[in-house]
Amino acid sequence: MKLPDPALLVLVGPSGSGKSTWAAAHYRRDEIVSSDALRGVVGSGPHDLDATADAFDLLERVVAARTGRGLTTVVDTLGTDEARRLGWLASARASGLPTVAVVLDTPDAECRRRNATRDRPVPAATLTGQLERHRALVPRLEHEGWDIVHTVTAAPPAPDPAPAPVTDSTERRTSQGLKVVLQVSRFPWGQDPLGWLTAVARAADEAGFAGLSVMDHLIQIPQVDRAWAPIPEPWVTLGAVAGLGTGLELGTLVTPVTFRAPGITAKAAATLDVLTGGRAFVGVGAGWWDREHAAYGLAFPPAGPRLDELERGIETMRALWAAGTKAYDGSRVSLPETTCYPRPVGELPVIVGGTGRRTLRIAATLGDAANVPSARPALDEHVATLRGLSESVRITVLDLPTIGTDREDAWARVERLRGRTPAAAYAQRTHAGTAADQRDRWGGLVELGVDTVFLGVADLEGAEDVARLAALAT
Ligand code: CTP
Ligand code: MG
Repeated sequence: MKLPDPALLVLVGPSGSGKSTWAAAHYRRDEIVSSDALRGVVGSGPHDLDATADAFDLLERVVAARTGRGLTTVVDTLGTDEARRLGWLASARASGLPTVAVVLDTPDAECRRRNATRDRPVPAATLTGQLERHRALVPRLEHEGWDIVHTVTAAPPAPDPAPAPVTDSTERRTSQGLKVVLQVSRFPWGQDPLGWLTAVARAADEAGFAGLSVMDHLIQIPQVDRAWAPIPEPWVTLGAVAGLGTGLELGTLVTPVTFRAPGITAKAAATLDVLTGGRAFVGVGAGWWDREHAAYGLAFPPAGPRLDELERGIETMRALWAAGTKAYDGSRVSLPETTCYPRPVGELPVIVGGTGRRTLRIAATLGDAANVPSARPALDEHVATLRGLSESVRITVLDLPTIGTDREDAWARVERLRGRTPAAAYAQRTHAGTAADQRDRWGGLVELGVDTVFLGVADLEGAEDVARLAALAT
Protein backbone atom coordinates (compact mmCIF):
# COMPACT_ATOMS: atom_id res chain seq x y z
CA MET A 1 0.00 0.00 0.00
CA LYS A 2 1.30 3.43 -0.98
CA LEU A 3 1.09 5.96 1.84
CA PRO A 4 0.45 9.65 1.11
CA ASP A 5 3.52 11.83 0.80
CA PRO A 6 4.03 14.32 2.27
CA ALA A 7 2.22 13.25 5.43
CA LEU A 8 2.32 13.14 9.18
CA LEU A 9 3.00 9.58 10.30
CA VAL A 10 2.69 8.70 13.96
CA LEU A 11 4.19 5.37 14.96
CA VAL A 12 2.32 3.32 17.54
CA GLY A 13 3.93 0.24 19.06
CA PRO A 14 5.63 -1.09 22.16
CA SER A 15 9.40 -1.36 22.61
CA GLY A 16 10.96 -3.79 20.23
CA SER A 17 7.95 -3.80 17.91
CA GLY A 18 10.18 -2.38 15.16
CA LYS A 19 9.08 1.28 14.93
CA SER A 20 12.55 2.76 14.43
CA THR A 21 13.51 -0.02 12.06
CA TRP A 22 10.40 0.53 9.93
CA ALA A 23 10.90 4.30 9.91
CA ALA A 24 14.55 4.03 8.89
CA ALA A 25 13.65 1.65 6.07
CA HIS A 26 11.11 4.05 4.52
CA TYR A 27 12.08 7.62 5.40
CA ARG A 28 15.05 9.94 5.44
CA ARG A 29 16.76 10.53 8.73
CA ASP A 30 15.72 14.17 8.93
CA GLU A 31 12.08 13.20 8.43
CA ILE A 32 12.06 11.08 11.56
CA VAL A 33 11.51 12.75 14.92
CA SER A 34 12.41 10.25 17.59
CA SER A 35 12.06 10.73 21.34
CA ASP A 36 14.96 8.35 21.90
CA ALA A 37 17.22 10.24 19.49
CA LEU A 38 16.29 13.55 21.16
CA ARG A 39 17.07 12.09 24.60
CA GLY A 40 20.51 11.56 23.14
CA VAL A 41 20.63 15.19 21.98
CA VAL A 42 19.60 16.81 25.25
CA GLY A 43 20.60 13.99 27.61
CA SER A 44 23.36 11.45 28.01
CA GLY A 45 21.97 9.04 25.44
CA PRO A 46 18.81 7.51 23.95
CA HIS A 47 18.01 5.75 27.23
CA ASP A 48 18.49 8.75 29.53
CA LEU A 49 15.03 8.80 31.10
CA ASP A 50 15.93 11.90 33.12
CA ALA A 51 16.02 13.78 29.82
CA THR A 52 12.48 12.77 28.83
CA ALA A 53 10.78 16.11 29.54
CA ASP A 54 13.41 18.09 27.65
CA ALA A 55 13.37 15.61 24.78
CA PHE A 56 9.60 15.83 24.39
CA ASP A 57 9.67 19.66 24.55
CA LEU A 58 12.03 19.56 21.62
CA LEU A 59 10.03 16.88 19.85
CA GLU A 60 6.84 18.97 20.05
CA ARG A 61 8.66 21.96 18.55
CA VAL A 62 10.15 19.93 15.71
CA VAL A 63 6.82 18.30 14.86
CA ALA A 64 5.04 21.68 14.92
CA ALA A 65 7.71 23.32 12.76
CA ARG A 66 7.82 20.54 10.17
CA THR A 67 4.10 19.99 9.89
CA GLY A 68 3.66 23.79 9.75
CA ARG A 69 5.83 23.73 6.62
CA GLY A 70 3.98 20.80 5.14
CA LEU A 71 6.98 18.49 5.45
CA THR A 72 6.78 14.76 5.91
CA THR A 73 7.18 14.01 9.60
CA VAL A 74 7.50 10.58 11.15
CA VAL A 75 6.96 10.68 14.91
CA ASP A 76 8.84 7.81 16.56
CA THR A 77 7.63 7.42 20.15
CA LEU A 78 5.64 4.63 21.82
CA GLY A 79 2.60 6.55 20.54
CA THR A 80 0.53 5.78 23.62
CA ASP A 81 0.22 9.32 25.03
CA GLU A 82 -3.25 10.29 23.81
CA ALA A 83 -2.97 14.05 24.42
CA ARG A 84 0.27 14.31 22.45
CA ARG A 85 -1.00 12.05 19.67
CA LEU A 86 -4.15 14.08 19.16
CA GLY A 87 -2.11 17.29 19.30
CA TRP A 88 0.12 16.11 16.39
CA LEU A 89 -2.97 15.03 14.48
CA ALA A 90 -4.53 18.46 14.93
CA SER A 91 -1.46 20.44 13.86
CA ALA A 92 -1.04 18.31 10.73
CA ARG A 93 -4.70 18.77 9.88
CA ALA A 94 -4.34 22.51 10.34
CA SER A 95 -1.60 22.49 7.68
CA GLY A 96 -3.58 20.27 5.35
CA LEU A 97 -1.18 17.33 5.74
CA PRO A 98 -2.62 13.82 5.42
CA THR A 99 -2.39 11.94 8.70
CA VAL A 100 -1.38 8.31 9.15
CA ALA A 101 -1.26 6.24 12.31
CA VAL A 102 1.27 3.46 11.73
CA VAL A 103 0.50 0.52 14.02
CA LEU A 104 3.25 -2.02 14.56
CA ASP A 105 1.44 -5.32 14.86
CA THR A 106 4.22 -7.46 16.27
CA PRO A 107 3.48 -10.53 18.43
CA ASP A 108 4.18 -9.99 22.13
CA ALA A 109 6.63 -12.87 22.20
CA GLU A 110 8.60 -11.35 19.33
CA CYS A 111 8.79 -7.98 21.11
CA ARG A 112 10.02 -9.77 24.23
CA ARG A 113 12.54 -11.78 22.28
CA ARG A 114 13.94 -8.72 20.50
CA ASN A 115 13.93 -6.74 23.74
CA ALA A 116 15.89 -9.47 25.51
CA THR A 117 18.62 -9.41 22.90
CA ARG A 118 19.15 -5.63 23.08
CA ASP A 119 22.03 -3.92 24.84
CA ARG A 120 19.65 -2.01 27.08
CA PRO A 121 16.43 -4.03 27.35
CA VAL A 122 13.48 -2.36 29.03
CA PRO A 123 12.51 -4.21 32.21
CA ALA A 124 10.17 -7.13 31.54
CA ALA A 125 7.40 -5.62 33.69
CA THR A 126 7.62 -2.31 31.80
CA LEU A 127 7.32 -4.10 28.48
CA THR A 128 4.32 -6.04 29.76
CA GLY A 129 2.62 -2.73 30.63
CA GLN A 130 3.41 -1.33 27.17
CA LEU A 131 2.02 -4.42 25.48
CA GLU A 132 -1.22 -4.15 27.48
CA ARG A 133 -1.65 -0.43 26.76
CA HIS A 134 -0.91 -1.05 23.09
CA ARG A 135 -3.55 -3.76 22.84
CA ALA A 136 -6.15 -1.48 24.43
CA LEU A 137 -5.22 1.45 22.20
CA VAL A 138 -5.33 -0.12 18.74
CA PRO A 139 -9.16 -0.38 18.43
CA ARG A 140 -9.53 3.26 19.56
CA LEU A 141 -7.31 4.60 16.76
CA GLU A 142 -10.06 3.97 14.19
CA HIS A 143 -12.19 6.60 15.92
CA GLU A 144 -9.57 9.30 16.38
CA GLY A 145 -9.85 10.79 12.93
CA TRP A 146 -6.73 9.57 11.15
CA ASP A 147 -6.94 9.53 7.36
CA ILE A 148 -5.31 6.13 7.37
CA VAL A 149 -4.58 3.59 10.07
CA HIS A 150 -1.78 1.58 8.53
CA THR A 151 -0.83 -1.73 10.10
CA VAL A 152 2.71 -3.09 9.74
CA THR A 153 2.84 -6.80 10.29
CA ALA A 154 6.01 -8.33 11.67
CA ALA A 155 8.27 -10.25 9.34
CA PRO A 156 8.77 -13.88 10.36
CA PRO A 157 10.89 -14.06 13.51
CA ALA A 158 14.63 -13.96 13.16
CA PRO A 159 16.48 -17.20 13.92
CA ASP A 160 16.81 -18.10 17.60
CA PRO A 161 19.86 -16.31 18.98
CA ALA A 162 20.48 -18.97 21.68
CA PRO A 163 24.19 -19.84 21.88
CA ALA A 164 25.06 -22.78 19.67
CA PRO A 165 26.96 -25.70 21.23
CA VAL A 166 30.69 -25.12 21.00
CA THR A 167 31.45 -28.24 18.98
CA ASP A 168 29.63 -31.43 18.02
CA SER A 169 26.18 -31.84 19.49
CA THR A 170 26.22 -35.63 19.33
CA GLU A 171 27.04 -37.37 22.57
CA ARG A 172 30.29 -39.26 22.69
CA ARG A 173 29.66 -42.97 23.20
CA THR A 174 31.86 -46.01 22.83
CA SER A 175 31.21 -48.78 20.33
CA GLN A 176 29.59 -50.60 23.28
CA GLY A 177 27.16 -47.72 23.65
CA LEU A 178 28.62 -46.45 26.92
CA LYS A 179 29.38 -42.90 27.82
CA VAL A 180 32.81 -42.92 29.49
CA VAL A 181 33.76 -39.97 31.68
CA LEU A 182 37.25 -39.64 33.09
CA GLN A 183 37.09 -39.15 36.85
CA VAL A 184 40.12 -37.21 38.07
CA SER A 185 40.55 -37.62 41.81
CA ARG A 186 44.25 -36.92 42.36
CA PHE A 187 46.12 -33.83 41.28
CA PRO A 188 49.85 -34.63 41.28
CA TRP A 189 50.46 -31.40 39.42
CA GLY A 190 53.71 -30.32 41.06
CA GLN A 191 54.69 -26.74 40.32
CA ASP A 192 52.41 -26.32 37.32
CA PRO A 193 48.77 -26.89 38.29
CA LEU A 194 47.26 -25.23 35.22
CA GLY A 195 49.71 -26.90 32.84
CA TRP A 196 48.96 -30.31 34.35
CA LEU A 197 45.21 -29.79 34.30
CA THR A 198 45.30 -28.49 30.74
CA ALA A 199 47.35 -31.45 29.51
CA VAL A 200 45.09 -33.99 31.23
CA ALA A 201 41.90 -32.41 29.92
CA ARG A 202 43.23 -32.07 26.39
CA ALA A 203 44.43 -35.68 26.44
CA ALA A 204 40.99 -36.82 27.63
CA ASP A 205 39.33 -34.81 24.86
CA GLU A 206 41.67 -36.17 22.21
CA ALA A 207 41.24 -39.73 23.45
CA GLY A 208 37.51 -39.31 22.91
CA PHE A 209 36.27 -39.39 26.49
CA ALA A 210 32.74 -38.07 26.81
CA GLY A 211 33.61 -35.94 29.80
CA LEU A 212 35.74 -35.14 32.77
CA SER A 213 34.54 -35.18 36.36
CA VAL A 214 36.12 -34.24 39.65
CA MET A 215 35.34 -35.09 43.25
CA ASP A 216 34.08 -32.40 45.58
CA HIS A 217 36.05 -32.74 48.80
CA LEU A 218 37.74 -30.24 51.09
CA ILE A 219 40.47 -32.60 52.23
CA GLN A 220 41.83 -35.37 50.02
CA ILE A 221 40.08 -38.57 51.04
CA PRO A 222 42.10 -41.49 52.47
CA GLN A 223 40.83 -43.84 49.75
CA VAL A 224 42.74 -41.76 47.19
CA ASP A 225 45.79 -40.10 48.73
CA ARG A 226 47.22 -38.43 51.80
CA ALA A 227 45.39 -35.56 53.45
CA TRP A 228 47.97 -32.99 52.36
CA ALA A 229 47.77 -33.94 48.69
CA PRO A 230 46.07 -31.15 46.70
CA ILE A 231 42.33 -31.47 46.19
CA PRO A 232 41.19 -28.31 44.40
CA GLU A 233 37.80 -26.64 44.61
CA PRO A 234 35.85 -28.36 41.84
CA TRP A 235 33.83 -25.55 40.25
CA VAL A 236 36.89 -23.32 39.95
CA THR A 237 38.82 -26.26 38.51
CA LEU A 238 36.09 -27.10 36.01
CA GLY A 239 35.93 -23.43 35.04
CA ALA A 240 39.59 -23.60 34.08
CA VAL A 241 38.89 -26.71 31.99
CA ALA A 242 35.89 -25.00 30.40
CA GLY A 243 38.29 -22.30 29.21
CA LEU A 244 40.01 -24.86 26.98
CA GLY A 245 36.92 -25.16 24.78
CA THR A 246 37.06 -28.94 24.54
CA GLY A 247 34.09 -31.15 23.68
CA LEU A 248 34.14 -32.67 27.17
CA GLU A 249 31.13 -32.70 29.44
CA LEU A 250 32.16 -31.32 32.81
CA GLY A 251 30.79 -31.81 36.30
CA THR A 252 31.24 -33.01 39.84
CA LEU A 253 30.96 -36.51 41.22
CA VAL A 254 29.60 -35.60 43.64
CA THR A 255 28.91 -32.29 45.36
CA PRO A 256 27.70 -32.74 48.95
CA VAL A 257 24.63 -30.63 49.74
CA THR A 258 26.29 -29.91 53.08
CA PHE A 259 29.03 -27.75 51.51
CA ARG A 260 27.11 -24.97 49.82
CA ALA A 261 23.58 -23.70 49.82
CA PRO A 262 21.96 -25.41 46.79
CA GLY A 263 21.24 -22.10 45.09
CA ILE A 264 24.97 -21.41 45.03
CA THR A 265 25.61 -24.80 43.42
CA ALA A 266 22.81 -24.07 40.93
CA LYS A 267 24.54 -20.81 40.05
CA ALA A 268 27.94 -22.47 39.60
CA ALA A 269 26.54 -25.29 37.48
CA ALA A 270 24.48 -22.94 35.28
CA THR A 271 27.57 -20.79 34.75
CA LEU A 272 29.62 -23.84 33.83
CA ASP A 273 26.86 -24.92 31.46
CA VAL A 274 26.93 -21.69 29.48
CA LEU A 275 30.73 -21.64 29.47
CA THR A 276 30.77 -25.16 27.98
CA GLY A 277 27.94 -24.64 25.50
CA GLY A 278 25.62 -26.93 27.45
CA ARG A 279 28.02 -29.62 28.61
CA ALA A 280 27.75 -29.33 32.38
CA PHE A 281 26.29 -31.86 34.78
CA VAL A 282 26.00 -31.75 38.52
CA GLY A 283 26.52 -34.73 40.76
CA VAL A 284 24.97 -34.34 44.19
CA GLY A 285 25.04 -36.38 47.35
CA ALA A 286 24.32 -36.17 51.05
CA GLY A 287 27.99 -35.96 52.06
CA TRP A 288 29.62 -38.58 54.22
CA TRP A 289 32.94 -37.44 55.66
CA ASP A 290 32.52 -35.78 59.04
CA ARG A 291 36.20 -34.78 59.25
CA GLU A 292 36.16 -32.35 56.33
CA HIS A 293 33.00 -30.71 57.62
CA ALA A 294 34.47 -30.19 61.09
CA ALA A 295 37.72 -28.85 59.66
CA TYR A 296 35.95 -26.26 57.53
CA GLY A 297 33.42 -25.21 60.13
CA LEU A 298 30.49 -26.85 58.36
CA ALA A 299 27.57 -28.52 60.08
CA PHE A 300 27.30 -32.26 59.54
CA PRO A 301 23.81 -33.29 60.63
CA PRO A 302 22.68 -36.92 60.84
CA ALA A 303 21.82 -38.84 57.67
CA GLY A 304 18.06 -38.18 57.79
CA PRO A 305 18.30 -34.38 57.75
CA ARG A 306 21.12 -34.53 55.19
CA LEU A 307 18.89 -36.52 52.85
CA ASP A 308 16.05 -34.06 53.48
CA GLU A 309 18.49 -31.36 52.42
CA LEU A 310 19.46 -33.37 49.33
CA GLU A 311 15.81 -33.42 48.27
CA ARG A 312 15.38 -29.71 48.96
CA GLY A 313 18.65 -28.99 47.16
CA ILE A 314 17.63 -30.73 43.94
CA GLU A 315 14.25 -29.02 43.99
CA THR A 316 15.88 -25.62 44.58
CA MET A 317 18.35 -26.06 41.72
CA ARG A 318 15.65 -27.11 39.29
CA ALA A 319 13.46 -24.17 40.30
CA LEU A 320 16.33 -21.75 39.68
CA TRP A 321 17.18 -23.32 36.32
CA ALA A 322 13.60 -23.25 34.99
CA ALA A 323 12.45 -20.58 32.55
CA GLY A 324 11.19 -17.27 33.84
CA THR A 325 11.66 -15.52 37.16
CA LYS A 326 8.37 -16.29 38.82
CA ALA A 327 7.92 -17.23 42.44
CA TYR A 328 8.39 -20.91 43.18
CA ASP A 329 6.12 -22.76 45.55
CA GLY A 330 7.06 -26.42 45.58
CA SER A 331 6.46 -29.34 47.86
CA ARG A 332 9.63 -28.78 49.90
CA VAL A 333 10.88 -25.36 48.92
CA SER A 334 9.36 -21.91 48.37
CA LEU A 335 11.28 -19.07 46.75
CA PRO A 336 9.91 -15.52 46.31
CA GLU A 337 11.45 -15.37 42.82
CA THR A 338 13.67 -17.51 40.61
CA THR A 339 15.90 -14.90 39.06
CA CYS A 340 19.02 -16.88 38.16
CA TYR A 341 20.95 -15.74 35.11
CA PRO A 342 22.67 -17.09 33.14
CA ARG A 343 20.15 -19.87 32.70
CA PRO A 344 21.63 -23.26 31.68
CA VAL A 345 21.81 -23.79 27.91
CA GLY A 346 19.56 -26.84 28.09
CA GLU A 347 18.62 -29.56 30.53
CA LEU A 348 21.29 -29.69 33.19
CA PRO A 349 21.52 -33.32 34.37
CA VAL A 350 21.46 -34.02 38.10
CA ILE A 351 23.29 -37.21 39.05
CA VAL A 352 22.55 -38.43 42.55
CA GLY A 353 25.41 -40.40 44.12
CA GLY A 354 25.01 -43.03 46.83
CA THR A 355 23.60 -46.47 47.49
CA GLY A 356 21.41 -46.07 50.55
CA ARG A 357 17.79 -47.07 50.10
CA ARG A 358 16.54 -43.50 50.46
CA THR A 359 19.33 -42.09 48.29
CA LEU A 360 18.37 -44.44 45.47
CA ARG A 361 14.76 -43.34 45.85
CA ILE A 362 15.83 -39.71 45.62
CA ALA A 363 17.91 -40.50 42.53
CA ALA A 364 15.00 -42.31 40.87
CA THR A 365 12.36 -39.72 41.71
CA LEU A 366 14.20 -36.39 41.67
CA GLY A 367 17.42 -37.11 39.74
CA ASP A 368 18.14 -37.60 36.08
CA ALA A 369 20.69 -40.29 36.89
CA ALA A 370 21.96 -42.38 39.78
CA ASN A 371 25.63 -43.04 40.45
CA VAL A 372 26.59 -46.23 42.27
CA PRO A 373 29.79 -48.33 42.48
CA SER A 374 30.35 -50.74 39.60
CA ALA A 375 31.09 -53.72 41.89
CA ARG A 376 28.86 -56.70 41.37
CA PRO A 377 26.68 -58.28 42.59
CA ALA A 378 25.74 -55.22 44.67
CA LEU A 379 25.32 -53.26 41.44
CA ASP A 380 22.72 -55.71 40.18
CA GLU A 381 20.64 -55.08 43.29
CA HIS A 382 20.94 -51.31 42.99
CA VAL A 383 19.85 -51.49 39.36
CA ALA A 384 16.86 -53.62 40.30
CA THR A 385 15.89 -51.15 43.02
CA LEU A 386 16.26 -48.16 40.71
CA ARG A 387 14.34 -49.81 37.89
CA GLY A 388 11.59 -50.68 40.33
CA LEU A 389 11.22 -46.99 41.07
CA SER A 390 11.80 -45.46 37.66
CA GLU A 391 12.02 -46.66 34.08
CA SER A 392 13.89 -43.64 32.90
CA VAL A 393 16.52 -42.80 35.52
CA ARG A 394 19.93 -43.22 33.91
CA ILE A 395 22.30 -45.58 35.68
CA THR A 396 25.88 -44.47 36.00
CA VAL A 397 28.68 -46.29 37.80
CA LEU A 398 31.99 -45.33 39.32
CA ASP A 399 34.56 -47.84 38.10
CA LEU A 400 38.03 -47.90 39.65
CA PRO A 401 40.12 -50.51 37.86
CA THR A 402 43.86 -51.16 37.75
CA ILE A 403 44.82 -51.01 34.10
CA GLY A 404 48.15 -52.17 32.69
CA THR A 405 49.50 -52.37 29.18
CA ASP A 406 49.70 -56.15 29.66
CA ARG A 407 49.28 -58.68 32.47
CA GLU A 408 52.80 -58.08 33.71
CA ASP A 409 52.35 -54.30 33.84
CA ALA A 410 48.95 -54.65 35.51
CA TRP A 411 50.47 -56.78 38.26
CA ALA A 412 53.33 -54.34 38.79
CA ARG A 413 50.71 -51.61 39.29
CA VAL A 414 48.79 -53.74 41.78
CA GLU A 415 51.98 -54.22 43.75
CA ARG A 416 52.66 -50.48 43.74
CA LEU A 417 49.13 -49.42 44.65
CA ARG A 418 47.86 -52.04 47.05
CA GLY A 419 49.17 -50.48 50.28
CA ARG A 420 48.42 -52.97 53.05
CA THR A 421 45.73 -54.79 51.11
CA PRO A 422 46.81 -58.30 50.05
CA ALA A 423 47.77 -58.29 46.37
CA ALA A 424 45.23 -60.90 45.32
CA ALA A 425 42.37 -59.05 47.02
CA TYR A 426 43.44 -55.73 45.54
CA ALA A 427 43.77 -57.23 42.06
CA GLN A 428 40.33 -58.76 42.29
CA ARG A 429 38.63 -55.68 43.71
CA THR A 430 40.17 -53.42 41.02
CA HIS A 431 39.77 -55.91 38.17
CA ALA A 432 43.49 -55.71 37.45
CA GLY A 433 44.12 -56.34 33.77
CA THR A 434 44.44 -54.71 30.41
CA ALA A 435 42.10 -52.22 28.79
CA ALA A 436 40.69 -55.08 26.73
CA ASP A 437 39.87 -56.95 29.96
CA GLN A 438 37.94 -53.93 31.21
CA ARG A 439 35.97 -53.71 27.97
CA ASP A 440 34.96 -57.36 28.30
CA ARG A 441 33.76 -56.65 31.82
CA TRP A 442 31.96 -53.48 30.71
CA GLY A 443 29.98 -55.59 28.26
CA GLY A 444 28.24 -56.99 31.34
CA LEU A 445 27.51 -53.48 32.58
CA VAL A 446 25.89 -52.63 29.25
CA GLU A 447 23.70 -55.72 29.52
CA LEU A 448 22.64 -54.58 32.96
CA GLY A 449 21.52 -51.25 31.53
CA VAL A 450 24.40 -49.05 32.66
CA ASP A 451 24.48 -45.81 30.65
CA THR A 452 27.67 -44.12 31.81
CA VAL A 453 30.95 -45.25 33.33
CA PHE A 454 32.93 -42.78 35.40
CA LEU A 455 36.41 -44.21 35.06
CA GLY A 456 38.99 -43.47 37.72
CA VAL A 457 42.44 -44.98 37.97
CA ALA A 458 44.51 -44.64 41.12
CA ASP A 459 47.76 -44.06 39.23
CA LEU A 460 46.73 -41.31 36.89
CA GLU A 461 49.87 -39.19 37.05
CA GLY A 462 49.34 -37.04 33.98
CA ALA A 463 48.43 -36.81 30.33
CA GLU A 464 50.46 -39.91 29.33
CA ASP A 465 48.26 -42.02 31.56
CA VAL A 466 45.15 -40.67 29.92
CA ALA A 467 46.51 -41.76 26.57
CA ARG A 468 47.07 -45.23 28.11
CA LEU A 469 43.31 -45.40 28.78
CA ALA A 470 42.29 -44.23 25.31
CA ALA A 471 41.15 -47.69 24.22
CA LEU A 472 38.37 -47.41 26.79
CA ALA A 473 37.12 -44.03 25.62
CA THR A 474 35.73 -44.93 22.18
N1 CTP B 1 14.18 -5.91 14.62
C1 CTP B 1 14.23 -7.09 13.93
N2 CTP B 1 13.38 -7.34 12.89
C2 CTP B 1 12.49 -6.38 12.54
C3 CTP B 1 12.42 -5.19 13.25
C4 CTP B 1 13.30 -4.98 14.31
O1 CTP B 1 15.04 -7.96 14.23
N3 CTP B 1 11.66 -6.64 11.52
C5 CTP B 1 15.11 -5.71 15.74
C6 CTP B 1 15.92 -4.44 15.60
O2 CTP B 1 17.13 -4.71 14.93
C7 CTP B 1 16.16 -4.02 17.03
C8 CTP B 1 14.95 -4.56 17.76
O3 CTP B 1 14.36 -5.52 16.92
O4 CTP B 1 17.30 -4.66 17.55
C9 CTP B 1 13.96 -3.49 18.07
O5 CTP B 1 13.59 -2.84 16.88
P1 CTP B 1 13.33 -1.27 16.89
O6 CTP B 1 12.96 -0.88 15.50
O7 CTP B 1 14.47 -0.55 17.51
O8 CTP B 1 12.06 -1.25 17.84
P2 CTP B 1 11.33 0.00 18.42
O9 CTP B 1 9.88 -0.29 18.27
O10 CTP B 1 11.84 1.25 17.81
O11 CTP B 1 11.70 -0.12 19.95
P3 CTP B 1 11.86 1.10 21.01
O12 CTP B 1 10.48 1.53 21.37
O13 CTP B 1 12.53 0.45 22.20
O14 CTP B 1 12.67 2.17 20.37
MG1 MG C 1 12.87 2.85 18.55
